[in-house]
Amino acid sequence: MAESSECVTKKGHVLHKGYIDHLDELYNFPVRDQDVWICGFPKSGTTWTQELIWMIMNNLDFEGGKEDIHYRVPFLELSWYKDNAESFYLEPLRDNIGYIKKKYQSGPVCLKTHMPWVFLPKDIQEGLKKTKIIYVVRNPKDAALSLYHFMKALGECNEPVDDFLENFIAGNAVYLPYWSHVLEFWEQRHKPNVMILRYEEMLKDLPGMIRKVASFLEKPLTDDQVDQLVKHLSFDSMKTNSAVNNEKLIKERRQIKGLGEAQTGHMRRGQAKSHKAEMSPEMIEKFDEWINVNTKNTDFVVE
Ligand code: A3P
Repeated sequence: MAESSECVTKKGHVLHKGYIDHLDELYNFPVRDQDVWICGFPKSGTTWTQELIWMIMNNLDFEGGKEDIHYRVPFLELSWYKDNAESFYLEPLRDNIGYIKKKYQSGPVCLKTHMPWVFLPKDIQEGLKKTKIIYVVRNPKDAALSLYHFMKALGECNEPVDDFLENFIAGNAVYLPYWSHVLEFWEQRHKPNVMILRYEEMLKDLPGMIRKVASFLEKPLTDDQVDQLVKHLSFDSMKTNSAVNNEKLIKERRQIKGLGEAQTGHMRRGQAKSHKAEMSPEMIEKFDEWINVNTKNTDFVVE
């Protein structure tokens, strides 16, 4: 998550300043009916969702799934980070938009973005295309802690955890404020092409969620295929799968910064309510108050 000097606020959302030059391009992005956009606030289980969606869209092609997920499910705005050109290991993705357009030639595309709803292409916001939108959401206390540990693993965060969490609540970093992000998508939930996916529900009932997503994507699965996916998507399997666990990215980022091995990886705990073991009671209270204030006039319930 970028420091505040690298951020700008637009339409009430904090963005990396490298994004600003691309907002018009994104608004006019050529959207297609057959594609799937995976959206969500960072650390909400996006990678898990990406792997699930890609597998369903590609008829459980476990061989093809050995390719790094950044190629299979490109991260829309990644190349807009100013420092990306210096340090990102996936060279062709320096021009993600160009890469996605090239991918268009070979069939339906799944892509991932953390961009808030109000910056998505006009055709999506105005419902002019049937593009499927899957928004993954997770308890903000767990997402915030997951983000803290991931930024630390990347060598991009030196602050004490409580300072990081205070900044999270205050909305002082890229993609924040958290509530604008979540509630703008939540408002879209009744549209037939929009599905809200809860991280906690995936944990509770993975086979059920796999079936639900497959039916939303109009790609029903056999019981045997669901079983295969449950195994493939288990935490232990994702943790050791180098196509999804970002170990190469973390290693490279740390090497550039002259840092030793990271203490945690992208697949860290993989639990619901893990904040209970990691946050102080005072911080939990602060978060709860912030959750109450921000959800008071909505029907959004935090899992
Ligand atoms: P933790 O840091 O709490 O472990 P994202 O992909 O959006 O960056 O989200 C990362 C979070 O999703 C991490 O949370 C990671 O462990 C969790 N995650 C990824 N795959 C998972 C799986 N198969 N089961 C449970 N959690 C998973």
